[in-house]
Amino acid sequence: MILLGVNIDHCATVRQARYRGYSATVGGPVEPDPVTLAVLSERAGADGITIHLREDRRHIQERDVYRLREVAQTRINLEMACTPAMIEFALAVKPESVCLVPENREEVSTEGGLNVVGQRERVRAVCDAMREAGIMVSLFIDADAAQIDATVELQAPWIELHTGAWANAYYGPKRAEEFARLVSGARLAHSAGLVVNAGHGINYINVSEIRTLPHLNELNIGHSIISRALYTGIDEAVREMKLRINPIG
Ligand code: PXP
Repeated sequence: MILLGVNIDHCATVRQARYRGYSATVGGPVEPDPVTLAVLSERAGADGITIHLREDRRHIQERDVYRLREVAQTRINLEMACTPAMIEFALAVKPESVCLVPENREEVSTEGGLNVVGQRERVRAVCDAMREAGIMVSLFIDADAAQIDATVELQAPWIELHTGAWANAYYGPKRAEEFARLVSGARLAHSAGLVVNAGHGINYINVSEIRTLPHLNELNIGHSIISRALYTGIDEAVREMKLRINPIG
């Protein structure tokens, strides 16, 4: 069984489109509430909830993460940048895992993998602090041998392979090449003892290919599930994705 982590950030994106700057309106009756969505996602079968507190607080707010901590029944995977402020925040919230991602103020969503090779010491500081606190660490990286080697060196137990380039190439001539890159990355990481997760740009169509990635433990999916929920409700959106990840029969 491949696990499903539901990323609830874009529920907060919709909320903030109306309520940005009204911090008193986070939670309570304000819709859409990402924490309510997380609870409903868990009830529909999500194996974990992923939430990204960005430096510019464009969608998820600190209070969302604390509220989620109080009600989550599965696992919280906190996506975060490698900064001292985020280390402090993660240690206060104590999610089951953190996923270290690069952050660029201009991007709409996370666009490239974390450059572990280029900022080894910065990433090491976060890995060490999390390990000491008993929080699992995942590094969101491209399927690149040097990044995988650096992950092993820093003793991070998990990787999340960045599937964005493959998802963007899905209807173009480079799809097979991009998928082959993910397959080699997954094999290499698994042979080095890493748990292999994947995410970014996965939808109800392309999931049929990404689910065949070798050694895949978990998919983290946000945008497509939140979007589908507008039509069907979150319950059906999560159940349908779970079925497509692990078809019966
Ligand atoms: N995994 C990581 C590390 C991400 O940064 C994102 C985007 O927030 C996702 C998964 C989910 O991507 P999408 O919203 O395209 O499903």
